Amino acid sequence: MSNENDAGRTWPQWLPLRENLRGSSPYGAPQIPHVISLNTNENPHPLPSEVRDRIMDRIAEISTDLNRYPDRDAIQLRTKLAAYINQLSHERFDSRNIWAANGSNEILQTLFLAFGGSNRTAIGFTPSYSVHPMIANITGTSWIAGSRDSDFKIHSEGAASGIREVKPRLVFLTTPNNPSGTSTSIADIEVLARASAEVGALLVVDEAYGEFSSEDSAVTLIVRNPNVVVSRTMSKAFAFAGARVGYLVAHPSVIDAMLVTRLPYHLSALTQAAAETAIECADLLQSGLDEIREERERVSAAINLNGWKAIPSSANFILFTGFSGVSQDLWQTFLDRGVLIRDISLEGYLRVTVGTRNENDAFIAAMHEIASY
Ligand SMILES: Cc1ncc(COP(=O)(O)O)c(C=O)c1O
Repeated sequence: MSNENDAGRTWPQWLPLRENLRGSSPYGAPQIPHVISLNTNENPHPLPSEVRDRIMDRIAEISTDLNRYPDRDAIQLRTKLAAYINQLSHERFDSRNIWAANGSNEILQTLFLAFGGSNRTAIGFTPSYSVHPMIANITGTSWIAGSRDSDFKIHSEGAASGIREVKPRLVFLTTPNNPSGTSTSIADIEVLARASAEVGALLVVDEAYGEFSSEDSAVTLIVRNPNVVVSRTMSKAFAFAGARVGYLVAHPSVIDAMLVTRLPYHLSALTQAAAETAIECADLLQSGLDEIREERERVSAAINLNGWKAIPSSANFILFTGFSGVSQDLWQTFLDRGVLIRDISLEGYLRVTVGTRNENDAFIAAMHEIASY
């Protein structure tokens, strides 16, 4: 089995597919039944039954109106998200500072539609989330891959010079970064924000894993730096990946631009109702985060004890290296033992998501078995 979608397929002559998409393949990690899935950075804890019941009650309530379109602007949901972010950051945002969509991937796409496009450039610091350059390509935005240090950290002055030189419209910074798990300090983010402002760019801070980190959120920079926009998700810390809810925190002018490029009625009434209820239950849904952080440290220590090297992570996954052989082969060897991890196409490295205690034990047992080969 291949660990990613096959690239390089040929398309029929008659299909008027855009030239820039001809070499593309669909994004997606394998979804394999009956294995321990530690490959997509999901939260391993199912929703508590109390939260499930409340969601079902709420959906029953609103289902009487399903013949009507949903609130196009999702005001109630955005108001609740603003309160959640204010509690976390001590800022004073309201619904005008928040946009919500079907996962933060849709947020990213909506940003590209508004601020990218032909004759425009975006820059990111790789290795990082591969969906950023993917959406750049889909929207016809030029993509420049800036670099990180050998320990996957951002050298802020170097990155700022790169921004001044390239003069992009969009700058992407993922923190904690996927796949490395490393985070960037608020002081360094502000250096990038200022450089971005000088060249008329937005700095998009992708905080999909923000709740797992002890760094402050970049939302605390928005009042001083209106070109900072922060993309977040309910997929990870809220254990809500299946519901598809992401959101943006930004200056109201950025949100107004989102209203121009979003599809009408993009967020269903069912999603809005479920997400509002989940936010009301944030404490319950996030009660497993401490365990995930503790397990992250336990699995990292086990990887290091095994003679491999875990990159210190602030997220719910661990990038590791130091094994002999090729990443793809080791990935397959884990899968042969029923443990699905991620080959992120960075030779010499693999990534494992932190699962439940039992799932992590299975990963560690497979690792010991492989190492004693
Ligand atoms: C850095 C980063 N951003 C965004 C996303 C997308 O998350 P979602 O679309 O589920 O909100 C992911 C998912 O893994 C991610 O790793």
